[in-house]
Amino acid sequence: MAISIKTPDEVQSMRVACRLASEVLDFITPHVQPGITTGELDRLCHDYMVNVQGTIPAPLNYCPPGHTPYPSSICTSVNHQVCHGIPGTRVLKGGDIVNIDITVIKEGFHGDTSRMYLVGEPSKQAQRLCRITYEAMWLGIREVRPGSHLGDIGHTIQVFAENAGYSVVREFCGHGIGRNFHEDPQVLHYGRKGTGVVLRPGMIFTIEPMINAGRREIRQLADGWTIVTADHSLSAQWEHTVLVTDSGYEVLTLSEGAPPPP
Ligand code: MF3
Ligand code: CO
Ligand code: CO
Repeated sequence: MAISIKTPDEVQSMRVACRLASEVLDFITPHVQPGITTGELDRLCHDYMVNVQGTIPAPLNYCPPGHTPYPSSICTSVNHQVCHGIPGTRVLKGGDIVNIDITVIKEGFHGDTSRMYLVGEPSKQAQRLCRITYEAMWLGIREVRPGSHLGDIGHTIQVFAENAGYSVVREFCGHGIGRNFHEDPQVLHYGRKGTGVVLRPGMIFTIEPMINAGRREIRQLADGWTIVTADHSLSAQWEHTVLVTDSGYEVLTLSEGAPPPP
């Protein structure tokens, strides 16, 4: 699949979808408290998307090759869960860290973003992992400009995360996005400067590093979706959808409640 260059009209539609995705995270923020189940978070987000926003939750029944249909409207990945955690009966408790990943479809366009939430007061190490992962994502975003390479993004994230003593998950990456949930290019969160696709204005893709406190190896649970760290170390992830502009980048998945850039 070729990398699509979005027209000005398509960019405007993506701005709308992406802001809505971020607003789902704003909406759910006050609910992420000890005692709530991940299934309740899913139901609250689902109802907000469908009934308040008039958006479609893209994960629900999403069925990429080699997978069973994803059964929920959001992903909730707790502690050593890396990504694609399926919401259910798990009760959040003080000290947990949880990633909530939202993808909405509005008028045919996808917006994709995730944040880490601290439940109660997690350990200093857990908080540091979440902060470093946030900074890693933003360092990657700041590499985005016409003429730079995808490898510049991956390299910057990898060097920063590894210098902090962490590892970068290799099996999952950022992705082009638009009328499709996952489009070319693949945006690796590791790599070498000056390698890979050259960025051009109008490209839209996500940057969504998964950073492990321990080793980078992962496993998939028997549910066919949930990814965990093989060594059970903590994992964190943040995600934004980003447009390549004529002069640099525009982060599309921003809203009032989005944390400020570091
Ligand atoms: N939102 C995830 C991403 O950032 C993909 C989730 S696929 C699902 O690419 F089926 F698990 F929802
Ligand atoms: Co994504
Ligand atoms: Co996502």
